[in-house]
Amino acid sequence: MSSQGPLRRYFDNAATSFPKPPAVAAAMLRYMNEVGAAGRGAYAEARQGAAVLQRCRERIARLVGSDSPERVVFTHNATDALNLAIKGSARAFAQRTGKRPHAIVTNMEHNSVLRPCNELARDGLLELSIINANPSTGVVDPDDLLSHVRPGCTAFVAINHASNVTGSLQNIAAIGAGVRARGNDADRPLFIVDASQSLGHIRVNAREAHIDLLAFPGHKGLLGPTGTGALVIGRGVENRLATVREGGTGSVSEQDTHPAMLPEKYEAGSHNIVGIAGLSEGVAYLLERGVDDIRAHEAALLAHLLEALHAMRADGVRVLGDAPVAQRVGVVSFTHREYSPAELAAILESEFGILTRAGLHCAPLVHRALGTSPDCALPGQGAVRLSLGPFLNADDVRAAAAAIESACGVSDAAGA
Ligand SMILES: Cc1ncc(COP(=O)(O)O)c(C=O)c1O
Repeated sequence: MSSQGPLRRYFDNAATSFPKPPAVAAAMLRYMNEVGAAGRGAYAEARQGAAVLQRCRERIARLVGSDSPERVVFTHNATDALNLAIKGSARAFAQRTGKRPHAIVTNMEHNSVLRPCNELARDGLLELSIINANPSTGVVDPDDLLSHVRPGCTAFVAINHASNVTGSLQNIAAIGAGVRARGNDADRPLFIVDASQSLGHIRVNAREAHIDLLAFPGHKGLLGPTGTGALVIGRGVENRLATVREGGTGSVSEQDTHPAMLPEKYEAGSHNIVGIAGLSEGVAYLLERGVDDIRAHEAALLAHLLEALHAMRADGVRVLGDAPVAQRVGVVSFTHREYSPAELAAILESEFGILTRAGLHCAPLVHRALGTSPDCALPGQGAVRLSLGPFLNADDVRAAAAAIESACGVSDAAGA
C-alpha cells in the first residue's frame, strides 16, 4: 500500500482481502480489454465469457467439496447470498406448508443474517429464536441449539462459521449432522452456513458438514474483487428455496416466467463477469497453494499475535473471546480500559501504519454479549479488530504488536 509516512500494513482482511494475487487484476483487465462480452450469446467472445463463468464455478465447487458446478450460484457479496438463502427458504416454507416459518440463528451472527431475519419477523413472516454462544469462548453448544428445533415448523438454522469479531469457529459438522437427523429431506430444517470469515482460511466441506446453503463473499478469503460472492446449493435444496429475484437469464427466453434449472434459477440479470474473471484467479491461487497451507501460516501468525496481546493484559488490554488457536481463525479484537477503539485505530494508522477496524463490526449482538456494546462502561464502543491474510508475515505481526504496545502506553508503563 502506498502513502506517505510509515510502511502501511493491512490488517483488515475480514472486511476485504488485500493484496490480491496479481493474476486477479490481470484477468479482470484482460477481460475488460480483450473479451468484453456478457457471457450470453453464440459468438466467440460470448462463449469465452460463458467459459469464464463455468471455470470459476468449477473451481469454487472443488474448493468446497462439491462435484456440481451448476450448484454454485453467483451473488454480489455474502449479504446477497444470505438474503437469498434466508428469504428464499422462508418463502418456500410458507408456500409449501401454509404456516409461518420458525428459524434459529445465534447471537454470533453478522447483520447480514440478523437484519434479513428481523425484517421478515417484523412483517410477521418469520418467528426467530436466537441462541446465545458461551460468552467467554464465543462458541455455541450444538446440543443447546438443536434442542430449539421444532420438527415441521423450523424452516432453517443459520449460523456464522467463524466470528468476524472473535474469530471463534462453530462446530458446523455437529450442528449439520443434528439438523440432518431432524426429519426427512422434505421437512427437516435447512442448514445455512455463513462462511464469510472461514472459506479460504480453513478447510470447509459443504457435504461433510451437511450444509444445505453455503454463503460466502468472493472478495475476502477467496481473494477476488469486491462485488463478488456465491451461494452453494445442496442437492435437492432448490426444491425448498424460492427465488427472491427474477428476470433475464439468456435461456428459455420464450417463457415469461423464470426458469427452474440451476444455476439460472437464482441468477437473474447480467453477471459481474469482470469480477468473476478475477475471482476465478483468486480461487485458483487457493487451490494451488492449498487452504491447509494458508491455515498453517495464519495460525502461526495468530498464535504470535494472541501471545503478544495477552502479555499486555496487566496494562489494560483485553482480547475478546478466549477460544484457543485451533478453534479460531485469524480475527482478533481487543479493547483498552482507557482508550477508545476509534482513538487507538487512528493512532495505529497515523503513527505506525497499522490498518485496523474499530467499532461494532456489524455484529451488535456479539459486542453486547462481550460487554463491548455502546451501552457498556468502556470508553467508546466496540473494539479494535486485526484480521490476518495469506500475504501478511511474522514481521507484520511483530510490527503490529509493537505498535499496539506503544499506542496503549504499555512500554511507558513497563519503563515507569
Ligand atoms: C461473518 C460475516 N458475514 C457476512 C458478511 C458480509 O459480507 P459482504 O460484505 O460480502 O456482504 C461479513 C462481512 O464483513 C462477515 O464478516
